[in-house]
Amino acid sequence: MTTIRRFCCNDLLRFTSVNLDHLTETFNMSFYMTYLARWPDYFQVAEGPGKRIMGYIMGKVEGQGESWHGHVTAVTVAPEYRRQQLAKKLMNLLEEVSDKIDKAYFVDLFVRASNTPAIKMYEKLGYVIYRRVLRYYSGEEDGLDMRKALSRDVEKKSIIPLKRPITPDELETERSESLSQGRIPGPEKGDPCSILLTALYAESSLDVEVEALQAFKRSVTRDLLGALANWTEANHHRHWSGIACDPSSSRVISISLLEIQLEGEISPFVGNLSSLQVLDLTSNSFFRSYSTSTRIMLPAN
Ligand SMILES: CC(C)(COP(=O)(O)OP(=O)(O)OC[C@H]1O[C@@H](n2cnc3c(N)ncnc32)[C@H](O)[C@@H]1OP(=O)(O)O)[C@@H](O)C(=O)NCCC(=O)NCCS
Repeated sequence: MTTIRRFCCNDLLRFTSVNLDHLTETFNMSFYMTYLARWPDYFQVAEGPGKRIMGYIMGKVEGQGESWHGHVTAVTVAPEYRRQQLAKKLMNLLEEVSDKIDKAYFVDLFVRASNTPAIKMYEKLGYVIYRRVLRYYSGEEDGLDMRKALSRDVEKKSIIPLKRPITPDELETERSESLSQGRIPGPEKGDPCSILLTALYAESSLDVEVEALQAFKRSVTRDLLGALANWTEANHHRHWSGIACDPSSSRVISISLLEIQLEGEISPFVGNLSSLQVLDLTSNSFFRSYSTSTRIMLPAN
């Protein structure tokens, strides 16, 4: 018998077998924990006999105005359980939450252009290719941005395909512009918390995020193992070691640099990372020395 239920922390210790598939996007623990804490309804697992994990889906809801949408961050089913409609059920669940609970306009996802089985599945489920994002995956393979309109998008405007491909930079700019317009997410119009959050998020552009990370690196006085060697402008900051970013906004959500013999001060500019959820510097030699006017604030989940 198969049970579909909410993903929980313990599942993080048991889902490796499903993650071994090379087409399954994997992330670090902090990233999964952030999703669990912020979008628990969007993280579901299918469990089989003997409590074996058969597959899971992980996603979120985000965007502004008519771009308010559900997003599938990862969906995967272990090879031995495929073609039993499991992924379909998990996708249907996420769509249901986006449609009925969050009143989103559409659901979207990114898929490798070469991942024919997944593309076929999404098409079968009613998704269309909205646009191609050039070299979206590690600067090499193109990604397809696929969308399915939900009931709130009565005119199905969200799925009218773009005529030309876009670059990952354009994707980021689009995201930043949407944030800086300060519009309020769909279902919570008028909610003072949303207004406050939108304003706070709008204040911090991606440049500010990169500058904050560079300031963090500058305040490290000793990096014996060269752990921060790839923190250079030649690499996008989402590829810097220990950094996890929100895949669609590229904002830093986690800095995890554990047991790598770093020494120095924690830069107060870390406080400018407006989406940061986790700062884990366990077993290094950091100290804090702030002027009384400096505050480090990590936003709540
Ligand atoms: C893609 C994936 C999630 C599909 O999982 P699944 O549980 O086997 O899919 P389902 O059984 O729910 O399939 C639903 C429908 O999608 C289509 N489909 C699924 N897999 C397919 C394949 N390999 N080839 C062609 N069509 C496929 C079929 O139309 C299928 O319905 P049918 O079996 O009645 O014909 C699974 O192959 C997988 O985990 N792949 C590796 C990870 C991955 O690529 N994830 C997506 C990243 S964006």
